[in-house]
Amino acid sequence: MLYLIGIGLNDEKDITVKGLEAVKTCDKVYLESYTSRLSCSKEDMESFYGKEVILADRALVEDGSKILKEAKEKNVALLVIGDVFGATTHVEIYIEAKKQEIPIQVIHNASVLNAVGITGLSLYKFGKVTTIPLENKNIKSPYEVYLKNKELGLHTLFLLDIKENQLMTTDEAAEYLGRMGIPRETKCVAVGGLGSNDPDIRYVTLDNAVVNKYPQCLIIPGELHFKEEEALEFFA
Ligand SMILES: C[S@@+](CC[C@H](N)C(=O)[O-])C[C@H]1O[C@@H](n2cnc3c(N)ncnc32)[C@H](O)[C@@H]1O
Repeated sequence: MLYLIGIGLNDEKDITVKGLEAVKTCDKVYLESYTSRLSCSKEDMESFYGKEVILADRALVEDGSKILKEAKEKNVALLVIGDVFGATTHVEIYIEAKKQEIPIQVIHNASVLNAVGITGLSLYKFGKVTTIPLENKNIKSPYEVYLKNKELGLHTLFLLDIKENQLMTTDEAAEYLGRMGIPRETKCVAVGGLGSNDPDIRYVTLDNAVVNKYPQCLIIPGELHFKEEEALEFFA
């Protein structure tokens, strides 16, 4: 059996009861460790789950063959920070398991994609989500996504690249957007540490888009309903 388990956004205790029960039945537990970050260590997870946690890099997860082969004979868990389908990569191992008729169970959890609701912006009014890469010198697509969302009056969520120990910050994202031509006085919501007890959320202009918690993401709101405006004022 292959379990794809979302483990939430903050620490080892964000796993669901159902997720934890599944982990406890597993012979092998992999952690996808390259698309996001928790605030706890691998050791914290191991002691809370009562299992060894094996770090799975991009090659192991995207290739998938080793994990799928093991899942034919044993109970194997792939833990994903946030929700299983909150990143673009995990649908591949899911489809491959289905093709190979490997029994599979998906256990969901909170994702950055819904946790941004804490800003008061309506989740129903977000347009296409985009990621700003760390190396972005000749990259236009996040800006183009923003332009299309803006035209439709929709909010744009910018996810920020992570590479090994480098987590992109909201001010680096704002600097990129400024270079693309978005005026520095454009209002945005800088967000850090969603899922923690005290996430850092600031409704500011692009030239002040600094928060102190990690991971971080940035939102440029589209047309605002008065209730959304009211909520954003808490973060101004
Ligand atoms: C690929 S995405 C989402 C991954 C995850 N599977 C999910 O469902 O949330 C990872 C990016 O989302 C943003 N992100 C993830 N967790 C966050 C958090 N707790 N607070 C703020 N932004 C977060 C960061 O920009 C990070 O680089």
